[in-house]
Amino acid sequence: MEDTGAPGPRPMLRARGLAKSFGEVEAVRGVDLEIAPGELFGLLGPNGAGKSTLIGMLSTLITPTSGSGSIAGFDIVRERVDVRRSIGLVFQEQTLDRYLTGWYNLRFHAEVYGVPADEVDDRVEEALRDVGLWEERDRLAGTYSGGMRRRLEIARGILHRPALLFLDEPTAGLDPRSREAVWDRIRELNELGGTTVLMTTHYLEEAENCDRIAIIDGGRVVTSGSPAELKACIGQDRVEVVARAPEALRNELRDKLGVHPVVEGDTVWFTVEQGRLFVPRLFSETTAEITSVQVRAPSLDDVFLEYTGRGINAGAVEAAPAAGGPAR
Ligand SMILES: Nc1ncnc2c1ncn2[C@@H]1O[C@H](COP(=O)(O)OP(=O)(O)O)[C@@H](O)[C@H]1O
Ligand SMILES: [Mg+2]
Repeated sequence: MEDTGAPGPRPMLRARGLAKSFGEVEAVRGVDLEIAPGELFGLLGPNGAGKSTLIGMLSTLITPTSGSGSIAGFDIVRERVDVRRSIGLVFQEQTLDRYLTGWYNLRFHAEVYGVPADEVDDRVEEALRDVGLWEERDRLAGTYSGGMRRRLEIARGILHRPALLFLDEPTAGLDPRSREAVWDRIRELNELGGTTVLMTTHYLEEAENCDRIAIIDGGRVVTSGSPAELKACIGQDRVEVVARAPEALRNELRDKLGVHPVVEGDTVWFTVEQGRLFVPRLFSETTAEITSVQVRAPSLDDVFLEYTGRGINAGAVEAAPAAGGPAR
């Protein structure tokens, strides 16, 4: 067990300078991370950012090249068995047995994971009910929809009641309704069940649901914080003004109000701090005829763009398989 030296509760997860190279490829380049018990934490990053490799190291499946990490106080290299007992894992790839029923998939896993024999049936039922699949327990997993299979995998991940659940792209490739159903379960497990969750996603709107997120790019954490904090760091709102004479308005805005407006069609837009408070000045200090005004607060897209220099899905297209399956 480590001595953190600091007061306060022990973090559920801690990484210090964690790095992994595969030959020449530096997949993860020194990640520091701390997650408190009960947090719902999101790792956001484009394909190839190093998310799965980081989860692999934290879940003891990949040996780090350098750095250290602990889960519930157990060292991810020296105390692997204790770490494995503390975590549940839902992989990016589907790993269910399609020719077993939902119930048998879990039953089999419970035995492998060493759930005490007299508790297996109760645990399997509890986990299936937790993810809303109890009624479907006798169907072959191969006949489940993509969303149901994901929920079954989550049920399997929580069978041994782990303190920390890793979910690698749990909603990738699912339709919006299935994504919502999977999210309902994740939130329940986290809020009602008290399970700490570390998940990866490249859907920015899903990251909004997380207590905190870290943006990872090129194997490094480039920023972290709550979604609100990260958006506040961007600071500037985007103000869009539709005007009858956009060029004239642009000149007035630039000369009188000191902003840097851009004209696009009949719209003039610019960024400014506290956009809402700026709106009255548009009317009192310019003479242009204004048709409409819209103020947009920064989104996580803007945060991502600011820190990585590109959109989160840029480049993902070529990495996606031609058949249209989920991108790896
Ligand atoms: N087993 C491996 N051997 C060689 N390179 C790998 C291996 N696993 C991952 N990589 C490379 O490491 C980088 C990070 O991959 P990964 O962790 O899967 O990213 P993400 O999950 O964010 O998409 C990529 O460049 C990937 O090609
Ligand atoms: Mg991945």
